[in-house]
Amino acid sequence: MKKTKGRQHMGVLDGRVAIITGAGRGLGREHALQFAAEGARVVVNDVGGSASGEGTDSDLAHEVVAEIKAAGGEAVANTDSVSDWAGAQRLIETAVDTFGDLHAVVNNAGILRDRMLVNMTEDEFDSVINVNLKGTFAVSHHTARYWRGRSKQGLDADRVIVNTSSGAGLAPGVGQTNYAAAKAGIAAMTQVAAKELGRIGVRVNGIAPLARTRTTDATPGLSERLAEPEAEQEFDVYHPRNVSPLVAYLATEDCPLSGHVFRVVGG
Ligand SMILES: NC(=O)c1ccc[n+]([C@@H]2O[C@H](COP(=O)([O-])OP(=O)(O)OC[C@H]3O[C@@H](n4cnc5c(N)ncnc54)[C@H](O)[C@@H]3O)[C@@H](O)[C@H]2O)c1
Repeated sequence: MKKTKGRQHMGVLDGRVAIITGAGRGLGREHALQFAAEGARVVVNDVGGSASGEGTDSDLAHEVVAEIKAAGGEAVANTDSVSDWAGAQRLIETAVDTFGDLHAVVNNAGILRDRMLVNMTEDEFDSVINVNLKGTFAVSHHTARYWRGRSKQGLDADRVIVNTSSGAGLAPGVGQTNYAAAKAGIAAMTQVAAKELGRIGVRVNGIAPLARTRTTDATPGLSERLAEPEAEQEFDVYHPRNVSPLVAYLATEDCPLSGHVFRVVGG
C-alpha cells in the first residue's frame, strides 16, 4: 500500500496524473471523482459554460477540485477552453507543472446546438465543431507533443487518451449535422491517433456514452427515457457515474486496449 500525502489507498490509478476536460459537471465530473477515488492526481478542466457553450464560470472546476480534496484526493483546476490552441497547451502545462508528468487525458468537453440543416447557422455549426472536434484535436496534439518529448528522453510509460464520441456520431439522427459530424470525426480521430501514437507507447480509445445530464434533460423524449427510477432501491442505469468505471479502466497502466470506441450505457 502506498502513502500519498498522509492518506493511504490502493487505487487502480495510483501514481497516474490525469486531465479530464469538461469535468465541472455531468459525465466529466463523475470521471474526475472516480479517477481521484482510484488514486489519480487530476486536472479538472472546465470553462463553466451553458449547454450550448455560452458564458463562463470558473467556480465550477474549483468546486469539483474542492470536492476531490475534501474526500482526500489530489486535484487542481484549469479553466481554459479546450478549443483555444494556447489554452490547450496551458492545460497540459498545468498537469506537468503541478504533478510532474501526465499519463491520461480524457477529452470529454462538449456542447450542443441542435438545428435542422436547412436552418443551422454558420455560428451554430462552427461552435459545435470547435469545442467537440477541434477541442479534442487541440488537447490531443499538445499532449502528444509532450509525450513524444518524454519518449525521446527515454522516459517511457503507459500513456492513454480517451475521447468522447456519441451514438449521435455513430448512428446519427435529425437536427445534429454539426454534433454528428463532430462526434463521427472524433471516432475517426481516435483510430488515427491510436495508429500514429502506438509507437511512443500511447493508447487511444473512445467512448460513446449515454447518461442523464443537463444535455439529455433538455432533449425531448430522452429526458423521460433516462429518468431516475421511481423505486429508491432500483439500480439507476442512466446515472453518469456508471460510465466512469470503463474510462478509469482504459486509463489503467495494464489495460492492453487501443483503437476502440466503446458504446457505454450504465449497467
Ligand atoms: N450525456 C449523454 O448521454 C452523452 C451522450 C453522448 C455523448 N456525450 C458527450 O459526453 C460529454 C459530456 O457530456 P455531458 O452530457 O456530461 O455534458 P455537460 O454539458 O453536462 O458537461 C459538459 C461540460 O463541458 C464543459 N465545456 C464546454 N465547452 C468547453 C470548453 N470549450 N472547454 C472546456 N470545457 C468545456 C461545460 O462547461 C460542461 O461543464 C460531451 O462530449 C458530450 O457530447 C454525452
